[in-house]
Order: sequence, then structure tokens, then C-alpha cells
Amino acid sequence: MRENFSSKLGFILTAAGSAVGLGNICRFPYGVNENGGAAFLLVYLFCVIIIGFPFMWLEIGLGRMTGKGMSAAFEKTGANWFFKLNPLLALIISFIILSYYSVIAGWCLGYLGLSLVDKHEDFGNFVSNANYTVPSALAFILLVVWIVRSGVKAGIERASKIMMPLLFVILIGMAIYSLSLPNAYKGVEFLFHVDFSKITPNLLVSAFGQALFSLSLGIGGLTIYGSYLSKKDNIVSISFWVILMDTLVALLAGLIIFPAVFSFGISPKSELAFTFNVLPEIFSSMPYGYVLSVLFFLLLALAALTSGISFFEILVGNITDKSQISRKKVSYLLGIFVALLAIPSALSTGANAWFSSVSLFGKSGFLDILDHTFGTVLFIVSAAMTSIYVGWFMPTKEVAEEISVGCSMFAKPLFLGVSLYKVFIFSVKFIIPILIAFVFAQKFL
Ligand code: PHE
Repeated sequence: MRENFSSKLGFILTAAGSAVGLGNICRFPYGVNENGGAAFLLVYLFCVIIIGFPFMWLEIGLGRMTGKGMSAAFEKTGANWFFKLNPLLALIISFIILSYYSVIAGWCLGYLGLSLVDKHEDFGNFVSNANYTVPSALAFILLVVWIVRSGVKAGIERASKIMMPLLFVILIGMAIYSLSLPNAYKGVEFLFHVDFSKITPNLLVSAFGQALFSLSLGIGGLTIYGSYLSKKDNIVSISFWVILMDTLVALLAGLIIFPAVFSFGISPKSELAFTFNVLPEIFSSMPYGYVLSVLFFLLLALAALTSGISFFEILVGNITDKSQISRKKVSYLLGIFVALLAIPSALSTGANAWFSSVSLFGKSGFLDILDHTFGTVLFIVSAAMTSIYVGWFMPTKEVAEEISVGCSMFAKPLFLGVSLYKVFIFSVKFIIPILIAFVFAQKFL
């Protein structure tokens, strides 16, 4: 018998845990900052609505319909050799992203530790010290393995049920604090006042990629979770809550960071420095800064952990689907490989000269090369393949029927005779692949 989530709430919190991660708290504010503020937010929200909803229905629906993760689901639905490469690609992407995601998550743990002993360490010094970066990445991987090896209900669901509400409480408290700073309104204006002239092809690309990454869509993360979902549950309403939470967390992160940045007149330079260099600086000059920085890094570590769990479950779930080896054994074995690959990334931010300076595809540093190749380019390729496979190479209706199970309004005409069912089919066949092709052309041609 396949394990099931114990409740709909458990599923929502776990899927939201996967979605809410470093993507929301580091990458989203950085994207806003780089791409002219509210214009980025507007396009991001557009992508979340147009792509996010149908793609999330698709991923969860495919998982529940087949009762399997992406690999076995593609086999079961008759994928040819070419489309069977899609789940394989997704597994490789999850494996590689997890290896460097753990390094960044390790920085959160490291900064959490430093905050707890009220010690301030410059970002540059921290990340170039292997004595910090390697053990903290390994500690993070150990946590992930420890949770995932216990299975869905006892491990993943229980952890998410505790961590997600805590995360919201910390975020809301910090946003209120940040909004009460002098000149906070300038940050709010930056986040919400749209300047349409800032909408460029580059902005479209990053906002689109961000929406996909942030919602954990494209590599089967929600397919494996969907395979543990009961038939009673309503995929459409679940997706609504997950997308709402993911978007709220991104907005709250913006409402914490921008008022603080404007209030202190600091301009962050790079994606990672945005969180790890600037915020501790701000915290240290704030009243109660010590408590705030402990809370903030705790929050980041929690968000990263629930996403790390999701990357790891893509691997463990798909492998146990197709083999007789126990979940525990697969978890330990894979954990070792992830840890081995994490080491060069942990050394690539200054600790080792070669890993820090190696360059490929215009990116330099091992971690950045992996992130660009697997976290952006191949991530989009994988999403495109899934949508084309489900839209054109298997009966799309089967997935649509699955989504209707537990959601009676799905097939009912809502507006001008159009039902969500029809919107779904049209999106999967046309809108998603065309938008992905457009984005891809902008970025890489
Ligand atoms: N959505 C996560 C984040 O924002 C990353 C992620 C992508 C997790 C895909 C699992 C699967 O950080």
C-alpha cells in the first residue's frame, strides 16, 4: 500500500513547504531589485497566474492519477524513449540543485549559529572559509536525509506542519517591524509602484523563470507529492492555497527587505549578498537586531529545509517507486552522493581557487555554473518537455479527468461556456509551451 498524506492540510503545508524556499526569500527580492521594482512583480504575478495554476494542476494530477512519481508515471502513460528522458533529466536536476542548494542553506545555518552567539562575520569572510561552508552544508544534508528517510507521514508531513506556520509567524512579525522603520514607505513604493517602461525581454525571462522555480514546477516535485494524495482531495483548491502562500511569502520577504534597505540607504550588489551581507548589517544597527537576525536566519533555514526535503523526495520517491530497495537505504546512499557533490560548491566561493574561478557558459565559480545550467536552462527545458508530453503525447483528457475527481466545479462552465477543464487543456497544449519557447528564445538565441 502506498503511503498517503494524513490530511489535506498536511498536503497543502508540505507542497507549500516545497514551494517556499530560498527562491522566495533570496532570489525574488533580488529579481525585483535588479529589474526595476514593481514591473518585475507585475510580470511575475502574471506568470504565476497564467502558468502556475494549470501547471500545478498538471503535476499533482499526473502524480495522483498514476500513483507514482514522474519516472514511473511517464512509463505508465506510455512515454516513448525521448520523453522518458524527461524524468531522467528531472532527477539529475534535482540531484544537482540539491547539492548546491544545501551549500546556500548551510550558510543560513551558519549565520543562524553566528547570530545565536551574537557574532558578526562579514559575508566574504564567511563564504570563503571552508571550515564554515563545508560542515554547514553537510549538516543541512544530514537534516534532509534524516527527515526524508522516515517517510511521508512521519517525516515530511510532520516536519512541514510544524515549520510552515512558524515561518509565517516570523515573516509577518518581521514585516510589521520593517514597515515601522523611518522611510519604510520608499521601499513599499519601490515594490508596488509600476513603471511600465522597465518591462524588457530580460525582465520577462527572469520573472518567468522565477515563477517556475519558486512554485517548484517543472521537475516533478509536485508529481511525487501528488502520488501520495487521496482521491477525495480537491487539486484545484489545494493549488490555490499553495500558490497563494508562495506568493504571500515572496511579498512578505519584499516587505521585510525593501523598507529596511531604503531606510538604511544600502544598495545590495549581488543576489546572495542581498540577504547574507546587507541584512546582518542592518540588523546590527537596529534595536533588538540580535533577536531579529536569529529569527530571520531561522526562518531562512526552515524555508530552505522544506524545499531541500522536496528535492530529495523527488530522488528517493522516484527510485523507491521502481526498485525493491528500502526508503532508508536509498536515502542514506543518495545522501552520501549529494554530500560529495556539495563539497566543490562549498569550496567555490573563495575557499578553493580553482573551484571559485573555473568558468563555463559565461559564469564563473562551480556553484554559479551549476545554478545557471541546471537551475535555469535545463529547469526550463524540463518544464517544457513535461507540458509538451502531457499536452500532445498522452491523452491530456486523462489528467483533466483526474483533476475533476474531488473538484466538481472543474468541468462546469464558469464564464461564457468556458470551464476550468477547457482552460487546462488549452494551457497545457498551447499557452505553456508557447510561453516557454518565447522565454527560451529571448534568453538563449
Ligand atoms: N521552490 C523552491 C524555492 O523557491 C525550489 C524548488 C524547486 C524546490 C523545485 C523543489 C522543486 O526555493
